[in-house]
Amino acid sequence: MTLQKYIQDKKNLVSSYLETYLKHTVLPQVSPAGKWGNDAVARILTFATRGKMLRSSLIFLSSQLFTQEQHTDILLRTSTAMEFFHTGLLIHDDIIDNDERRRGMDSMHTQYQKILGTDSITNSKKTGESFAMCVGDMSFFLAFQILAEIQPSDLSGKLTTLFSQELTAVCTAQMQDVYGGATRKQFSQDEILSVYAFKTGRYSCGLPLVAGATIAGATDQTKKNLWKLGTSLGILFQIRDDQLNLFGNPDKIGKPIGSDIRENKQTLYRFFLLEKAQEDTKKHLLSLFGNPSLSPKDVAYVKKHVTDLHIEDDIRDIVHEQEQIVNEVLKHLPIPEDKQTLFREFVDYLNKREV
Ligand code: IPE
Ligand code: IPE
Ligand code: MG
Ligand code: MG
Repeated sequence: MTLQKYIQDKKNLVSSYLETYLKHTVLPQVSPAGKWGNDAVARILTFATRGKMLRSSLIFLSSQLFTQEQHTDILLRTSTAMEFFHTGLLIHDDIIDNDERRRGMDSMHTQYQKILGTDSITNSKKTGESFAMCVGDMSFFLAFQILAEIQPSDLSGKLTTLFSQELTAVCTAQMQDVYGGATRKQFSQDEILSVYAFKTGRYSCGLPLVAGATIAGATDQTKKNLWKLGTSLGILFQIRDDQLNLFGNPDKIGKPIGSDIRENKQTLYRFFLLEKAQEDTKKHLLSLFGNPSLSPKDVAYVKKHVTDLHIEDDIRDIVHEQEQIVNEVLKHLPIPEDKQTLFREFVDYLNKREV
């Protein structure tokens, strides 16, 4: 089976499970509490099923590396929980980052801003954001609900602890990411990589790999290796996310470009630009980072200097370091022969993806 087909196949399975769960289990539980529950559930369904669902595919793949058993119900529940957690994080992240688009549609707070704006609400921006925070919270609680329902209960407990422990670290790193945008202090390369690892890397790659391995009953040593692999893979995933935020096609990636500059995110691109630029260019760049009314011309200016100053070479050095870690760990993982190619293709894809 090709990788593309594998990912699409898992996405179809998880989407259909998620839809049934929302319609049959969640709707009856939220409906008595007022009219917004149905609205929120419908929006979560649309939003959650438009993602690539890479994390779900990784959960399935990882489990299949370490056991012949199917565990289909457990894998579907865990993947659905993963997508609900991710959905909640993205809804909140778009409020934090002032991003109006996500997955080719309005982000959750923008959706509510628009509908509430036609409803004689005085401050629809704030109200839209408050609504989206509630929908994000709802996604988190649904994720825990579905993990709690997993049988056997000791596996349910293990998975719940695994997700809780990692996702609390995501919140801390998101705070550091916001702090980085607000402070005049320049983060070091290590500080930047630590934010990458904890805000996205580990939960996007390490967590699904370890969750799949936990379901398969893999050894502690294997899980330790998967954390190491997933952390480096996740850093590569975030470096690619930053690259797409500058050079991606907004129609293809479904979210705006340039917002990292506007929000003054302490990315590796910003780090190397400020390190290498001449004084006058540096001054102009500093006037653009964190500029709320950043124009397409300003974004083009930053991109031109990324090219002129060969920033991609510096990024490539860091990419190589992380790739070496990935390759080193892969040597020690007990991956069966027949699964090697698919797994390696997945690793390669996460690192070089276009979307
Ligand atoms: C985007 O994740 C946000 C990050 C954690 C970098 P994805 O690129 O997996 O986004 P979706 O889920 O496919 O929309
Ligand atoms: C998202 O990171 C992190 C979480 C959702 C926790 P980014 O802010 O860098 O990702 P995008 O670019 O908005 O998807
Ligand atoms: Mg963001
Ligand atoms: Mg963010």
